Amino acid sequence: MKPTIFITQPVFEPVVQELSKYCTVTRNTEDGPPPRDVLLAALAGCHGVLTQLNDRMDGEVMDHAPSLRVISNIAVGYDNIDVPAATARGILVTNTPGILTETTADFAFTLLLAAARRMIESDRFARSGQWKRWKLDLLLGTDAHHATIGIVGLGRIGQAMARRARGFAMPILYSSPRRAAPEIEQELAARHVPLETLLRESDFVSLHCPLKPDTRHLIGPAELALMKPTAILINTTRGPVVDEAALAEALRDRRILAAGLDVFEKEPEIHPGLIGLSNVVLAPHSGSGSRQTRLRMVEVASQNLLAALRGETPPNLLNPQALSHKSEPRPSGSGG
Ligand code: DGY
Repeated sequence: MKPTIFITQPVFEPVVQELSKYCTVTRNTEDGPPPRDVLLAALAGCHGVLTQLNDRMDGEVMDHAPSLRVISNIAVGYDNIDVPAATARGILVTNTPGILTETTADFAFTLLLAAARRMIESDRFARSGQWKRWKLDLLLGTDAHHATIGIVGLGRIGQAMARRARGFAMPILYSSPRRAAPEIEQELAARHVPLETLLRESDFVSLHCPLKPDTRHLIGPAELALMKPTAILINTTRGPVVDEAALAEALRDRRILAAGLDVFEKEPEIHPGLIGLSNVVLAPHSGSGSRQTRLRMVEVASQNLLAALRGETPPNLLNPQALSHKSEPRPSGSGG
């Protein structure tokens, strides 16, 4: 008998057709994550689920899915999934690393340039009818080339950002709990420094660390106070890494120059203090949003899902420890 899977939100149709060859597919065709009761009911008899970053998968959800063998997240980030809870229940969790690295770095660098060169303000001004003539001091921005960039988290995307920065002749600092291999530091000409030094010395600070308990509000009032008044903050990782209220105040009071933000603490809400500011470029969590990459993410997530359902070790398994729990039966129903 084919395993049953649930697709929590619309995905590209060819991938659904492909999955249907091997699975009985049930799905939410409404826009957005299903309400909790719908999710719980839908997962009752499911063996696999294809999730997105706004589907919250916690222990209670898992307890309503006694047959669940795999949660395949269509994202590299997986802070929406309680991985230890899944491991304890023998549920495999997978993500989509690697494929969105370059696309997300492209976007982070786009935000950097847009904030530095006041691209959004320039566009609005050019359309507004107020442009009368070339003017020496019109909408002056700041240079990215040869400016120092501080990269917080030198993982895959942080390194891809550094490669772009190299092309702009930017000196590179990075901070990270683990120092990168010497050959990576050398290739990127990146200097490992404490976060405080990075914040004090950088003209651009770009965040690429994952959201974890110890990176929540990594950038708060104290850290913003260390930054140069001419510095620009870029966030394409996860919103809660930055204290958004503190950032809004710092931008309003021009304690830092500008920001480029793709992620927010309570998406899709944006702190009201940011909305009216001209010195912040805002985007709706679009970092990986190229047609090619989003399709590839869904394909990879479905390959992860199918591999797990076939009893194989999926390519992007986050919790190999769960493999040893796999055959233990789990009670159905709510609780714990
Ligand atoms: C991810 O994959 O984690 C991104 O935030 C969405 O593409």
